[in-house]
Amino acid sequence: MAGVDIATAHWLATPDGLAAIEAAAACGPEPLAAAAALRRDRPDLSPGQASAALEQAGLRRLAFERYGIDAQRLLLTRAELEQATRPGIAAHRAALLRASGVTRVLDLTAGLGFDAAACAAAGMAVRALERDPVTAALCRHNWPLVEVVDADATEAQALAVELERLAPTDAVFADPARRDPDGPRDARLRAMPERDPARWAPPWPWLAALPHPRVAAKVAPSLPVPDGWHAEWSSVHRVVVECALYSWPVFAEGRRAVVWAGGEAIVVPSGPPGPTAPADRLGDWLYEPDPAILKAGAVATVLADHPQVRPLGPHSTWLTGPESQLGPAVRGFEVISLLDGSERQQRRRLDALAVATLTVKSRDTGVAPATVLRGLGRREGAGHVLVLTRLGDRSIRVLCRPARGLPA
Ligand SMILES: C[S@@+](CC[C@H](N)C(=O)[O-])C[C@H]1O[C@@H](n2cnc3c(N)ncnc32)[C@H](O)[C@@H]1O
Repeated sequence: MAGVDIATAHWLATPDGLAAIEAAAACGPEPLAAAAALRRDRPDLSPGQASAALEQAGLRRLAFERYGIDAQRLLLTRAELEQATRPGIAAHRAALLRASGVTRVLDLTAGLGFDAAACAAAGMAVRALERDPVTAALCRHNWPLVEVVDADATEAQALAVELERLAPTDAVFADPARRDPDGPRDARLRAMPERDPARWAPPWPWLAALPHPRVAAKVAPSLPVPDGWHAEWSSVHRVVVECALYSWPVFAEGRRAVVWAGGEAIVVPSGPPGPTAPADRLGDWLYEPDPAILKAGAVATVLADHPQVRPLGPHSTWLTGPESQLGPAVRGFEVISLLDGSERQQRRRLDALAVATLTVKSRDTGVAPATVLRGLGRREGAGHVLVLTRLGDRSIRVLCRPARGLPA
């Protein structure tokens, strides 16, 4: 749901509205001071217009600071910005579609139009449906190259007409809303629809059954991949932000990871599982593959590229070996010491090594990091990392240091 009404949305897109946003932006980020300054500089604005202009200026700042989006020309809403596709990922997806021969895209869920705009920029004709009139108006202003249509994609007759216009090689795209806009502000409660694909808008089962040969969708990373679909998980700063599903073979491998590092996309395809006998000893380094690599089941590809590297166990997410770097998609930790013996002995060892703070990584064991820290009498903090995992059938605690220049 947008924070402005339709009349204000239309006014924002006029030269007067855009100038008011510029004026609001020039009043600075501090809300009360900015409101007072805007009242002084633009006494002609109604209270509703002034507040909408200030909100837009704030959202443009947020878009840049949180998502790296240059939104200087754009009109935004907070709810839509939080769900928008990052421009790099949208451009990557659009390039894949274009490379697979798509020349026309029907976007069923326009939102603010980041996906639609990326498709248009990649040279495809884009028609984008949006059921919320305010969002549609903002999207129309944002991307003149996109044909934005006020429509509910789940309305059967209208959809049938839209699909009839497409050639079999054209693509239908959808990025269903996964949050309840009228739901609670509490992020945990708001995330509930996210976990229930039947409550997405439009619902995932409806999207998966669309009668068109080429359907692409952006979905929650946790959604099980349906049979026959290709999947690509994208991560930014080691957080898996989305999964893209394609109902036709857009890339050769069925699954792959895209790890975004320094604005570059590193693609790690899942390979045929190779011989990955677990390590029988701890190497000089431990490695933590990016979570998108784990989601895509692409660890075997990392192992195939580094024959001296082995997993710590058949189900472990940790690898070990002698190399200090396995590339930007895999984080390396230099092994300092195995911590064994009683907790008291471990505490003494940490004292001797002058380790006051630790980051505990214990996901292989289910033990809460806070419990480990308490037992060892340390505080949570950067510098050293303690990995709790298993080597063969033995539980181990490995004290490490992140490879130089990397956070834990
Ligand atoms: C996650 S947002 C899309 C974001 C967009 N991909 C972007 O990057 O800017 C989902 C959008 O779909 C719209 N939507 C949900 N159900 C719809 C439906 N049945 N028909 C048309 N639009 C719908 C919502 O109003 C929302 O704007």
